[in-house]
Amino acid sequence: MSAPCNVVVLISGSGSNLQALIDSLGEDNPARICAVISNRPEALGLQRAQAAGIATHVVRHKDFTDREAFDAALMEIIDTHEPQLVVLAGFMRILTSGFVRHYQSRLLNIHPSLLPKYKGLDTHRRALEAGDREHGCSVHFVTEELDGGPVAIQAAFIIEPDESIDALTGRVHAAEHIIYPLAVRWFAEGRLRLAEQGAMLDDIPLPATGHLLRI
Ligand code: GRF
Repeated sequence: MSAPCNVVVLISGSGSNLQALIDSLGEDNPARICAVISNRPEALGLQRAQAAGIATHVVRHKDFTDREAFDAALMEIIDTHEPQLVVLAGFMRILTSGFVRHYQSRLLNIHPSLLPKYKGLDTHRRALEAGDREHGCSVHFVTEELDGGPVAIQAAFIIEPDESIDALTGRVHAAEHIIYPLAVRWFAEGRLRLAEQGAMLDDIPLPATGHLLRI
C-alpha cells in the first residue's frame, strides 16, 4: 500500500462530508485524517471528529481583526500536523492568497454545483431557476480564483420534474458523500495530482470539468 497521507479537514458546520471521509477510511486507504479544524465552536462536525478519535481545534475567525491574521493562525495549527493534503469540507471562509499559495496543489474543496456553473452561494436555487436539466457537485483543487480551480471529479444527475429545492439539496449532498472520499483516496494514493496543465488522474490530464460520474 502507498505511504500514509496525512489529511487536515477544515469545517464550519454539520460536517456530513467529513463523516463520509471518516467512514471511507480503512486499512486499504492511505488517507489518514490527523486533525479537524473549525472556525465555529458549535460546528457539529467537531463532535463527529471527536467520536472518531480525531484531534480537533477551533480557530474563531471573530477573534482576529483581519483575514491575514486568521489565516496565519490557521496555517500555524495546520502545519503542526504536517499534512500532505488539506481538505475544505463546508469551510465557510474565503481564504487569503497567501493561504492558498502555501497549500498549492494540496488543497481540495467540494462545491455544490457542476462547475464552472454557479460559483459562490445558493447553487441549488440557481440551478432550478435556470431550468437546468442537470445538477451535481464538483471536487476541485483550490486556487486564488474562488471556486475556480481545476476540477478533479464531478457527480452529475438529472433534475426531476418539479423537484423541490430540499430534495435537490439532499441529492447533491448524497453525491458529495460519494465523490469527496473518492477524490481524497485518489490523492492519497498518488493517482490524483495538480500539474502545470491542470488536474491529472493516473498521469493523464483530466478534462476541464474533471472525471465525470453520472449517478
Ligand atoms: C456542502 O454542500 C459543500 O458542497 C459546501 O458546504 C456544504 C457542507 O456540508 N461547500 P457538510 O458540512 O459537509 O454537511
